[in-house]
Amino acid sequence: MKRPAILFVCLGNICRSPLAEAAFREAAAKAGLSCEIDSAGTGDWHVGLPPDERAQSTALENGLDIGHYRARQVTVDDFDDFDHIVAMDSQNHASLRAIAPRQARAQLSMLLDHVEGQEGQSVADPYVGNSDDFRRCWETVSLGAAALAQKLRNKHSV
Ligand code: 4NP
Repeated sequence: MKRPAILFVCLGNICRSPLAEAAFREAAAKAGLSCEIDSAGTGDWHVGLPPDERAQSTALENGLDIGHYRARQVTVDDFDDFDHIVAMDSQNHASLRAIAPRQARAQLSMLLDHVEGQEGQSVADPYVGNSDDFRRCWETVSLGAAALAQKLRNKHSV
């Protein structure tokens, strides 16, 4: 079966979605799931920049180097290039719904929709917060990433 392609989306692509991408890369590897993985932002302010220093530190604390990630803005083509587009919060979800083509290949969801009992909830934006907010963000996106990896493994295993 073809490798599933998953895109994580937040506002700036420098805090939450790079952390979700990193957490999911790890969760997918652990689950033995082979997939294409990327992240993007609905906004364009940080295009071309590495993740926020605090996001990089949080990832490093968890053994993951995300210093080579570069922010990009989500495009309409992403809806054909990915199987799953996973928004971090309801605002990102609404922005994505607004640009989604009618016949999109990608299924749109929010990360916490994949966690039992947390459906419809948003990943809090740590951008104006402190390092503890980034650590909490890591915990949240790791939970979502693990749940999504498990779900996809069940769906894509033969
Ligand atoms: P992110 O956080 O969407 O998790 O990457 C933000 C980053 C930048 C801004 C807002 C949120 N900003 O307004 O520049």
